[in-house]
Amino acid sequence: MSNEHERQEQRDHAHDRRKFLAGAMAAVPLVAGMQGVAQAQTATPAPAAGRGRPPQRRLGPLEVSPIGLGCMAMAPGFYNPAPERAAMVRLIRDAHRMGVTFFDTAEVYGPFVSEEIVGEALQPIRNQVVLASKFGFDYNGSSVTGRNSRPAHIKARVEGMLKRLRTDRIDLLYLHRMDPIVPIADIAGAVGDLISQGKVRAFGVSEVSPETLRGAHAVTPVAAVQSEYSMLERLPEVAMLDTCAELGVGFVPWGPTMRGLLADGFNAYSRFAAQDRRASVPFLAPEALEANMKIVALARDWAQRKDATPVQIALAWLLAQRDFIVPIPGTTKWPHLRENLGATDVRFTAGELAELRTALTALPVVGNRPADKARENE
Ligand SMILES: NC(=O)c1ccc[n+]([C@@H]2O[C@H](COP(=O)([O-])OP(=O)(O)OC[C@H]3O[C@@H](n4cnc5c(N)ncnc54)[C@H](OP(=O)(O)O)[C@@H]3O)[C@@H](O)[C@H]2O)c1
Repeated sequence: MSNEHERQEQRDHAHDRRKFLAGAMAAVPLVAGMQGVAQAQTATPAPAAGRGRPPQRRLGPLEVSPIGLGCMAMAPGFYNPAPERAAMVRLIRDAHRMGVTFFDTAEVYGPFVSEEIVGEALQPIRNQVVLASKFGFDYNGSSVTGRNSRPAHIKARVEGMLKRLRTDRIDLLYLHRMDPIVPIADIAGAVGDLISQGKVRAFGVSEVSPETLRGAHAVTPVAAVQSEYSMLERLPEVAMLDTCAELGVGFVPWGPTMRGLLADGFNAYSRFAAQDRRASVPFLAPEALEANMKIVALARDWAQRKDATPVQIALAWLLAQRDFIVPIPGTTKWPHLRENLGATDVRFTAGELAELRTALTALPVVGNRPADKARENE
């Protein structure tokens, strides 16, 4: 490639980046003032950064957009003050207009509230999207009383999930957390029955060990594993990603933006309010932040270098690790959604990935999960 060609590509890229920032900045007052769907439609360009539809990815039998949307914090009690429900319905539909076809929720988010929002939002576009939800808990009214994945309980819970999700089938049904007293073969068998009945299309498991994944997959083929994975929390690299590759299972990183730590507003002195879920995350604790902000600084350096944002670097880095990885950043804000989807425009060369890996490996991380947890991360 000629030097002039390279310079032109860099100028084009810088222009796109300025366009993204201008779009994102312009979107802030627009979103704040949005009252109706008609305005939301006017405000929504498609796709994220004007470069056409990015290549889709596979999670077992399911084809999905390379970046999904995590809908957990659309329910109250997570990272933000409770967002307005109608605004979340609009955000989900906007995400679809911007190319997202993969939406993640769970019965326990709220509980039930996130599923209700996702169900309402996706009802008119149900056949165009892949809808994922999760079981694994027991409830007394709206209080979680503990884990429960007994087969009869799973089947009963799925009936309620289908109603809240306003659908006749769940595309990807995950075991959310392993039930220590129910064998994985029984859980996988129950989901297999639901697949035979047409109520579920594919089986997923969340935060399990590679051994448990193998046990599940031997009974009912697993389409995807969902676990926390980011530049900071790299436990899945110990054994899980290789196991997924071997079995042909997709991998869905949750927490891909380091739970929002990559946002501009954070520094080593940031503290989370007691009601913010992040107040209890070890890698965000006051004694961990000073060390861990070095990873944020690294992402910020690469953002400058690649003419992107730190969140986009983090998401693009995940996408570059394996072609079966589909991150699901969670957001309740339209400009963040647009920024996150723009990550598919950020590409790394093999040399850049190696350089970034060397830099990451050299940085000590405080409060992440130790490597031996890969065997018992349940
Ligand atoms: N399987 C499991 O056990 C499990 C556990 C947790 C979560 N999940 C799923 O994974 C999804 C994502 O995980 P997560 O929400 O914990 O982690 P995350 O996506 O890394 O972080 C979400 C946080 O980052 C902020 N954020 C997102 N994009 C941003 C951007 N471009 N700039 C600045 N801040 C940004 C969000 O705030 P704003 O709303 O202000 O954008 C929110 O506070 C969830 O929605 C849920 O569906 C699964």
